Amino acid sequence: MAETAELILNGQSITLPVIEGTEHEKAFDIGKLRDQTGYVTLDSGYKNTGATKSAITFLDGEEGILRYRGYPIEQLAENSSFLEVGYLLIYGHLPTQAELTNFSNQITKHTLIHEDMRKIFDGFPSSTHPMAILSSLTCALTGFYPESINPNQTADEHNLQIVRLMAKLSTIAAWTYKNSVGHPLNYPRNDLDYCANLLYMMFSFPTEKYEINPVVVTAMNKLLILHADHEQNCSTSTVRLVGSANASLYGSVSAGINALWGPLHGGANQEVIEMLEEIHKSGGDTRKFIDKAKDKNDQFRLMGFGHRVYKNFDPRAKIIKKAADEVLHALGLQDSPLLKIAQELEQAALTDEYFIERKLYPNVDFYSGIIYKALGIPTEMFTVMFALGRLPGWIAQWKEMRENKEPIGRPRQIYTGELERNYLPMAERK
Ligand code: MLT
Repeated sequence: MAETAELILNGQSITLPVIEGTEHEKAFDIGKLRDQTGYVTLDSGYKNTGATKSAITFLDGEEGILRYRGYPIEQLAENSSFLEVGYLLIYGHLPTQAELTNFSNQITKHTLIHEDMRKIFDGFPSSTHPMAILSSLTCALTGFYPESINPNQTADEHNLQIVRLMAKLSTIAAWTYKNSVGHPLNYPRNDLDYCANLLYMMFSFPTEKYEINPVVVTAMNKLLILHADHEQNCSTSTVRLVGSANASLYGSVSAGINALWGPLHGGANQEVIEMLEEIHKSGGDTRKFIDKAKDKNDQFRLMGFGHRVYKNFDPRAKIIKKAADEVLHALGLQDSPLLKIAQELEQAALTDEYFIERKLYPNVDFYSGIIYKALGIPTEMFTVMFALGRLPGWIAQWKEMRENKEPIGRPRQIYTGELERNYLPMAERK
């Protein structure tokens, strides 16, 4: 017999169906609750609300498990390329060699962006945060591909939008960086793979030959894979919610980029490096900052520790910590003062009762910032790199939502404002 839940409300029994996922996660289906009882559920921040059924990413916060389409993140980070993982997330299976070659070729073919987009770049003051440019230009793609706003496109037409976005976001991302430092923009190079081309567009100059460092390419590939999806996080939920109104892929992802920009979400890796720099500037006494973090009356907060859904450890952090060690050694940066501070903070957090009790262990943002810094990526670009990594996840979630014909998202609320009152003429107001 199918499992059900019984809710007793003022003596009346209401039966709620129980939904079970393939990994045996369970939910009460409250879809008809308001019609049956007049009540809604209240769950601030949706911490306990399943907003959708999804077959893309499985995450077990208690056990520290993360799988894309069933494949453990550890295996993908070790063996895959970012585009292979992108294909897996978007189309649901690991590509054959022919499928991967075709996907990579199509992406390579579409990396150029319209010359008029350069004019839009010119309009942004150099003080503009790269995330603002990234989200604006992603949305601006609707102007260059107006058919993309038609919600009734064929699967092939949708695929073309997907490939274009996968291809062009890396060019836009690299150009936001060049724009911020006032350097000439580099056009993509079709002879390079995705990560090497990204690094080339960001770091090469017309005046000198650019040597691609394979250690850096490998680290970048890993970072992008580890960020590629994370089930219903804030930016992904935003993409799905905006997309549920039949908004275009470009418009929905542009909204997701803005959500990711927030310091409580993707902006956290930038905050980690800023914190390490602050500790360094003030003499590098990590003990003092550990004590400050423990002091309830002190404003200081340790950034990059703990996670909303991982209760014991962040599986991505384990992989990235190893990658950080490798990159810093390969680049001869193992003695950098920021790394030393990071290691001391990490050590303190892993051994101090205060942090252990509160489950404050270093998360993915803690280490990703350290790698980006070592690769020479400026702090303002960290969240842009996160967005590039997250793109296939956003696309996959948007596509799944469309294919499942999900209804427009429309949460309810519990109103806590004034009861009805009459309009007061100006003269009577105090
Ligand atoms: C993410 O990867 O999106 C972050 O860890 C945040 C989250 O999942 O809530």
